[in-house]
Amino acid sequence: MPDPDPAKAVGSKESVMKKRLLLTGVIVAAGLAAVIASVGGAPQAVAADIDAAKVWVAKCNKCHGDTGKADTKMGEKMAVGNMTTAEWQKKYDDVAIKKAVVVGVDKTENGVKKKMKGYKDELKPEEIDALLALIRSWAPKN
Ligand code: HEC
Repeated sequence: MPDPDPAKAVGSKESVMKKRLLLTGVIVAAGLAAVIASVGGAPQAVAADIDAAKVWVAKCNKCHGDTGKADTKMGEKMAVGNMTTAEWQKKYDDVAIKKAVVVGVDKTENGVKKKMKGYKDELKPEEIDALLALIRSWAPKN
């Protein structure tokens, strides 16, 4: 005879839900750990076969400009910071730069919506390291 107690039936449904939630949590945690590992790791030696400038032109210069000055329509529209200034280079440490590239930016500053998507599915960690090095190469030299 099937269990006639509806309370019991609901209870077992709940426990299935709980298990599913737990599983989802584990998967999300694993994904986050991977992202954090790629963000927090020390910059690896830039592999010779990665052309950071090429990646930059393909994915970043529309908003940030050819040399990080954000002298583009999109850059001006979103008041994107100029990466070639000492202030900018000081404001963002390596972890912050990599994190922005991995997860993106979505904020409103002085009433201006600033949005950049995350590139974790498009760029390999080595490519992100190479972009970081490229961005650092624009720091003013004096
Ligand atoms: C659709 C436009 C757009 C594209 C494309 C874009 N960004 Fe951004 N990026 C932004 C905006 C907007 C901000 C926030 C600007 C600010 O606050 O000065 C930003 C900020 C940043 C920052 C600073 C971190 C922060 O928290 O503000 C870095 C580093 C950065 N972008 C790197 C990149 C790289 C590398 C690429 C290419 C892989 C890229 N961006 C592509 C729009 C873009």
